[in-house]
Amino acid sequence: MPADVIAIDGPSASGKSTVARRVAEALGRVYVDSGAVYRGITWRVMELGVAAGDVAGAVAALGRMKVAGSVVERAVKFTYDGFDPGGAIRAAPVAERVSEIAAVPEIRAKVTGLLREAASFGPLVMEGRDIGSIVFPDARHKFYLDADPRERARRRAAEGQGEDGEVKRVLGAISRRDARDSGRATAPLRVAPGAIVIDTTGLSLEQVVERVMAAVREA
Ligand code: DC
Repeated sequence: MPADVIAIDGPSASGKSTVARRVAEALGRVYVDSGAVYRGITWRVMELGVAAGDVAGAVAALGRMKVAGSVVERAVKFTYDGFDPGGAIRAAPVAERVSEIAAVPEIRAKVTGLLREAASFGPLVMEGRDIGSIVFPDARHKFYLDADPRERARRRAAEGQGEDGEVKRVLGAISRRDARDSGRATAPLRVAPGAIVIDTTGLSLEQVVERVMAAVREA
């Protein structure tokens, strides 16, 4: 039986977070932000004082770390050694470091396991980069949201999500992160086989949600 998961993958600021939340709400599913787990682990690794570039130190720290998930208001929330990092996972220090952490195969293996375990919470909508390709290759529904990089930079700048500053600087940060996420050896950002690709450039949030919902209804 396919996993009862709606996988929504795509690059940063492609609109997938908001769309995934809306779809989960509309269908009464539990929402999972997989990027938040990479960010949470990055936050904790930094709290523990592991220096940038110390891959072995990060892997060892994660080996000792207790990561626990529970459902809070229909979304899976993770704690790291009992701590909830809150908004710190969106701030610049974590945003700058997270793709280094997310590129480490041992760390990806651990996160993939944690994300698969979340299926025990019920039918899910999970967003990320490799949900349809690696985490749940047998997901019932797979989507890949994309958008022109300039459009994504405009959206991210308007959100004021840590990566503050003007569109040009955000565009630089997004392009660097895209390159790292797509270029890494383990689970690079790719369109999963069987995924429906939606280019959200020029579409409203409502239009994207409607397309996803229509595809889910049709299936
Ligand atoms: O979606 P986000 O910006 O919160 O993701 C944070 C980082 O984690 C980003 O560098 C991509 C990475 N990530 C990943 O490698 N695999 C996922 N399934 C989700 C996020």
